[in-house]
Amino acid sequence: MNERTNVNTENLKKVSVIGAGHMGHGIAEVALLSNYFVSLVDISEERVNKGKALIDWSLKELMKKSKITEKRYKDILNNFETSTDLENAIKNTFLCIEAVPEKLELKKNIFKKLDKFSPKHAILASNTSTMSITEIANITQRPEKVVGLHFPPPPVLAKAVEIVKGEKTSSETINLITRFVKDSNKIPIISKDSPGFICNRIMAPSILLIQLMLDQKEYSPMKIDAAALNKKMIMGPYELLDYMGLDVVYDSSLYLAKTLSPDYYPTHTIKKFVEENKLGRKTGEGIYKWGPGGKRPDIDLSDPAEFDLLDLTRLQINEAVKVLEEGVGTMNDIEIGMKLFYHNQRGPFEIVKKMNLNDLTVFLDKISNKYGKEVFCAHKWIRDNTLLERISNKDERLDS
Ligand SMILES: NC(=O)c1ccc[n+]([C@@H]2O[C@H](COP(=O)([O-])OP(=O)(O)OC[C@H]3O[C@@H](n4cnc5c(N)ncnc54)[C@H](O)[C@@H]3O)[C@@H](O)[C@H]2O)c1
Repeated sequence: MNERTNVNTENLKKVSVIGAGHMGHGIAEVALLSNYFVSLVDISEERVNKGKALIDWSLKELMKKSKITEKRYKDILNNFETSTDLENAIKNTFLCIEAVPEKLELKKNIFKKLDKFSPKHAILASNTSTMSITEIANITQRPEKVVGLHFPPPPVLAKAVEIVKGEKTSSETINLITRFVKDSNKIPIISKDSPGFICNRIMAPSILLIQLMLDQKEYSPMKIDAAALNKKMIMGPYELLDYMGLDVVYDSSLYLAKTLSPDYYPTHTIKKFVEENKLGRKTGEGIYKWGPGGKRPDIDLSDPAEFDLLDLTRLQINEAVKVLEEGVGTMNDIEIGMKLFYHNQRGPFEIVKKMNLNDLTVFLDKISNKYGKEVFCAHKWIRDNTLLERISNKDERLDS
């Protein structure tokens, strides 16, 4: 049912966001702040209302910080409707953005409906963080209008957005979606359609390592996170898993296991958390217990683990080399993506320029042997010491 049925949307461009959860409500807010009319859809009144309340809270925070005026706040809410009726909510829309759970069959099902009920000119985008845009697009009659639009969380604060070009995505669609991203004051990163795209693919081995460490109870998660916070990271790796949602971590790992390497199969501990519905921030408990309203856990900073956080970066560099070799992204997009998605000061290629590649090879081989994971093995360009030569002059903007 549409909450606001008599809104005149004729003069406004309408964006429909499907899924009002962690990402969907934030993406809807981004579109609202860019002056689009937004319809936010979920499967129950309770869920759309939860998404709406989160948007309202976030807009009020922006008002408190004088980033928007009270008039703008009211205008924005006048451009907003919630719905549990997908068919109605995507009428007259020019852009549908899907943000439902990371399950391929569910996404395909949604795209079939988006294709059937939205106007023929509408672009259909998915916020999937790992899955094949080409496969999703092929379920529709308009694969040239299907594109990946991968926001990092929380979307409102995201500085960059990954745009994923499926095999049949047209240049016109890429241009339109690039304009949407730029209108939202965010930087577009262009990725080839490949599991995990640029940013999540590069993060995948380091996320796997911290999951394996959790299984083996090598360190307490809080001590690792304390070490990260003491290094001025904005969030420790375990808190980040909880923040993303352990179900999202589980589903993404499963997908990467099927498409990239069986090494990524969800680890025992994450599987157990998901089975117990302890999904992290969204359910109030996961690796940590979260406070009311998603308040962050208190991390005791006085007793950090003696763990070298650069180990995570070393794994990311190794994966970034694979992403570059496979042509998933340009060196520049990899650098910008890894800086802006994960709040890093430097990108993987800038960091590796100051590293000794022999030492890096020894580390990667050691960790690969320790956990029996091939995905950690040193890439041939690192092993044969040709990486720095290969990347020099590849993109001069890197050093600027
Ligand atoms: N969580 C993250 O940090 C993160 C980051 C980037 C991308 N993503 C991607 O965003 C997508 C959504 O993730 P999330 O974390 O927001 O999940 P979530 O579980 O918080 O939200 C998903 C929402 O989709 C709704 N939904 C389920 N079936 C639906 C249907 N048939 N129609 C309409 N709504 C439906 C659910 O009720 C829920 O509210 C996933 O593809 C995920 O991989 C997540």
